[in-house]
Amino acid sequence: MSRDELFSAKQNHIVDFVFDEQVVAVFPDMIRRSVPGYETVIPMTGLMAARHLTNNDVAYDLGCSLGATTLAILQQTDLAGVNVIGVDNAPAMIDKARSQVTDPRARFECADLTEFDVTDAKVVILNFVMQFLPLAARTPLLRRLRAQMRPDGLLIVSEKVRQPDPNLHERFDATHLAWKRANGYSDLEVSQKRQALENVMRVDTEEIHERRFREAGFTQSTTWFRCLNWASFIATSEPSTGR
Ligand SMILES: C[S@@+](CC[C@H](N)C(=O)[O-])C[C@H]1O[C@@H](n2cnc3c(N)ncnc32)[C@H](O)[C@@H]1O
Repeated sequence: MSRDELFSAKQNHIVDFVFDEQVVAVFPDMIRRSVPGYETVIPMTGLMAARHLTNNDVAYDLGCSLGATTLAILQQTDLAGVNVIGVDNAPAMIDKARSQVTDPRARFECADLTEFDVTDAKVVILNFVMQFLPLAARTPLLRRLRAQMRPDGLLIVSEKVRQPDPNLHERFDATHLAWKRANGYSDLEVSQKRQALENVMRVDTEEIHERRFREAGFTQSTTWFRCLNWASFIATSEPSTGR
């Protein structure tokens, strides 16, 4: 795994963060050292998705990057007729995902997820991607997903979140910075990456996420995981089956 040193040298002009070839080359190391809980959320969302799928069902991994979630789903099911479709609008991500994930049940599409058709999806996962969409695009996206998914479909959304209490938010944020330093990032790397993300990443509170799920037609939702300012939600439209 190549080490993420993208922000280690002093930059005179910090440009907005983009998922380009440079990021793709170090992405697994970058996300593992930057997102608290990533190494729990990915396998666990894969397991939850796999448990919800029966043979011939389709799952969508929207904002799939290198296909970590796609792979996590497929590792948890032996059903030969299951298909997982990974969607990302960064060509470099999709090229590498296609070359790395060789399971014939996986397919990758280079497309804008806000326009991608998920008709009859049994599971849709958005792991750490809604935070990069314009705020105004989020409810329409969830409405479209709800309308296109199967009535018994499962939605999983993982995100960076904002605490309603600013003091608590700051305390968690400071712990996150300390965790990044403990993972080998310097103060310069942390602050330059923050600047690069400032204009492209907009985070909501858990309450806003929950409200949005309801507005979009999901009748049940809950936070199943949270670590500092990162959370993961499941949303459905039917009484829970207890699975
Ligand atoms: C933080 S990464 C997601 C990580 C990935 N889900 C995982 O868990 O490993 C965000 C990804 O979303 C993609 N993305 C952002 N906006 C998108 C859009 N409108 N349509 C499709 N992909 C998008 C980016 O290219 C990037 O690969």
